[in-house]
Amino acid sequence: MKGVVLAGGKGTRLYPLTYATNKHLLPVYDQPMVYYPIQTLVNAGITEVMVVTGDIHAGDFINVIKNGKDLGLTHVEYAFQEGGSVGIADALKYAESFSDGEPIAVILGDNTTDADISGAVQHYTQAGEGAMVFLKKVIDPERFGNPVFDKNNPEKIVEIVEKPKKATSPYAVTGLYFYDAQVYDVIRTLKPSGRGELEITDVNNWYLRKNQLMWQELKGFWSDAGTFHSLFRSSRFWAQKRLGTKYKSVVAGNAIPEV
Ligand code: DAU
Repeated sequence: MKGVVLAGGKGTRLYPLTYATNKHLLPVYDQPMVYYPIQTLVNAGITEVMVVTGDIHAGDFINVIKNGKDLGLTHVEYAFQEGGSVGIADALKYAESFSDGEPIAVILGDNTTDADISGAVQHYTQAGEGAMVFLKKVIDPERFGNPVFDKNNPEKIVEIVEKPKKATSPYAVTGLYFYDAQVYDVIRTLKPSGRGELEITDVNNWYLRKNQLMWQELKGFWSDAGTFHSLFRSSRFWAQKRLGTKYKSVVAGNAIPEV
């Protein structure tokens, strides 16, 4: 399976940090944000990747990702999303020829996780069709796509609601998705939402109505990094993970050698 990293949009929730750069090039602890979703794919054996970005800083991605070799990529392509923040589903449409009729793993460029998704890749590849989403329990499900579960069957999602006023479950639909080649036809049928975007949640609900949406709970840490709090939380997690026992000393400002 090939992968797509969606790294367009304007990152307005992070102004003024994103006045002069693209959100996905901001640091999450010791790496540019976009390295993390790429590593999630590479760790699962997905080494052919398209990066979709846009806006005035798009050219900077090639300086940061280069030919992808240092990140473990065997092939990297770039696509330019037109129109600014016109939606995640809109960004995905640019990957149609790259996918070449095959299923695709899609990950949002501001999502970081230490979950190993290789088992899910295998499981999905065996199923061979439909879509798969990954859920994570969060403290603020109203900020995300929020799954509504069947009252009589807690395993069955009946609908996904994008940023509900009041969430009905404690889960976020994370920004990691597997789709078969139907997805591009689905995107062509979408209409912009209230916030003027082609919503990935509408795509997922299409698969749900067809009874073709599988889901799994993501194990390990997961966060987006598109707000000040989530950016801080992501940086803190990766600092802790990389520094281990040295983390407390670094935070306390103790003199320890750079690692
Ligand atoms: O992080 C998971 C959440 O991501 C999901 O739970 C939501 O269902 C989904 O809609 C999305 O919510 P956000 O409102 O947080 O998405 P945001 O606008 O921050 O965009 C997330 C990433 O998607 C962004 O870092 C890059 C990519 N994107 C977004 C837009 C709007 C694009 O590539 N192009 C775009 O036009």
